[in-house]
Amino acid sequence: MRTIIEPFKIKMVEQLRFTTPGERARLIEDAHYNPFLLHSDDVLIDLLTDSGTTAMSAKQWSAIMDGDEAYAGSRSYYKFEDAVRELTGFAHIIPTHQGRAAEKILFTLVGAPGKVIPNNTHFDTTRANIEVSGAEALDFPDPMGLRTEVEAPFKGNMDLKALEAAIARVGAENIPLIMLTVTNNSGGGQPASMENIRSTSEIAHRNGIPFFLDACRFAENAMFIKMREPGFGTHTVKEIVQEMFSYADGCTMSAKKDGLVNTGGWIAMNDPELATRARNVLIVTEGFTTYGGLARRDLEAIARGLVEVLDESYLAYRLRSIEYLGDALLKNGVPIMRPTGGHAVYLDARRFAPHIPLDNYPAQSIVCEIYRHGGIRSVEVGSVMFGKYLPDGTQVHPSMQLVRLAIPRRVYTQSHIDYVAEAVSEVYANREALPGLRITYEAPILRHFTAHFEPVPFTEEVSATNDPAVFEAVRLPELALP
Ligand code: F0G
Repeated sequence: MRTIIEPFKIKMVEQLRFTTPGERARLIEDAHYNPFLLHSDDVLIDLLTDSGTTAMSAKQWSAIMDGDEAYAGSRSYYKFEDAVRELTGFAHIIPTHQGRAAEKILFTLVGAPGKVIPNNTHFDTTRANIEVSGAEALDFPDPMGLRTEVEAPFKGNMDLKALEAAIARVGAENIPLIMLTVTNNSGGGQPASMENIRSTSEIAHRNGIPFFLDACRFAENAMFIKMREPGFGTHTVKEIVQEMFSYADGCTMSAKKDGLVNTGGWIAMNDPELATRARNVLIVTEGFTTYGGLARRDLEAIARGLVEVLDESYLAYRLRSIEYLGDALLKNGVPIMRPTGGHAVYLDARRFAPHIPLDNYPAQSIVCEIYRHGGIRSVEVGSVMFGKYLPDGTQVHPSMQLVRLAIPRRVYTQSHIDYVAEAVSEVYANREALPGLRITYEAPILRHFTAHFEPVPFTEEVSATNDPAVFEAVRLPELALP
């Protein structure tokens, strides 16, 4: 059969609450035009994130009832450890309450002023934890990955030449580890190829630098390798996952993604000395080494989730359901990152709303209108999330201005997705009316979570500042190696 269906049926449902566009205009204004500040009861379809929003299976819920809540040496921890070790092979597996807790521990240990951590693209919390440690976070995405309109199979790859040039300039002794994020969330949910993972590992090891994966979406990445990379079509996804991890010396993980759970994560590594130091930080900040800030029942749910996420009928459905939304939007001319990624469809806000200057956050404006129009919550991945100020107050913009429509795992049906495609296409049809926004409040770090905005009417004069030539000038220094 050609139709790929949801490989599950629904046993329990949650009621959705409908609101009117008029109500939502007031609600988004009250939320200062920041969807993080909306109440979720006022959201019809919540595509803010795929993180921790998974519908767990009946088997996971029954495993939860079997959790052993012992403080130390819990049976549930050993189940979790076995499940993680089977996939990753790492010697030391340390649970944390979510991904950023693993990052915090890692960069508390290896980050310091003068140190540099390269990645294909750091996620916002990874970058923030590195910067809080005093170290510098550098992104080396494959240049192809920055061109939303180009169809290429592995746009999440590390730019290996740029990585090697950076090692030569900064000095290997100043690089405590090299990371690779699979899939590349900030770069459109695009996968890295096995060849790129292997080569990044070789470059790291040739220079005596440990190599870590940011493994949040390892299963989606592995399925893309199976589907797209020559030589892997006959491998099982599990074998591909095991090979991916075999090139790494450790990983950080948010199990809220491909762990198929609502909370949890881990940090894992082979280096026993680093592991001892990590466990000591864990005990101070998260909890004892056999629970790491989680209820032990959560560890049961992760152990089961790691089995279910490798089900290839699930992964085929998962990737197809994202592509289905992308296809529907493309049919209506909506500019998106192509091909579609593993967990989300990303709208290209520069092509969607070219009349809004980057200083007035075109992607945030689209996010607000998609909510007002359809009750759908999405998130900006652009200047609000990654913009920086120069000392003179001018803003440096990241390379891409995206709106992410992240699809929670096993939650929404095809008709929900049809509704999303219809609503977003209507916003696109009326895009000329989108206003720009200006920030009225922002926190010094991770500002996108709490920032306040107000709309600004655009004029012909300010619109001219989004001229592509001006954009290139802004973007190039950021792409250039430091
Ligand atoms: N790394 C990546 C690539 C992520 O996407 C995330 C979270 C983290 C690390 C941090 O994990 O949330 O468990 O602390 N991403 C979520 C998102 C929040 O919406 O993409 P966490």
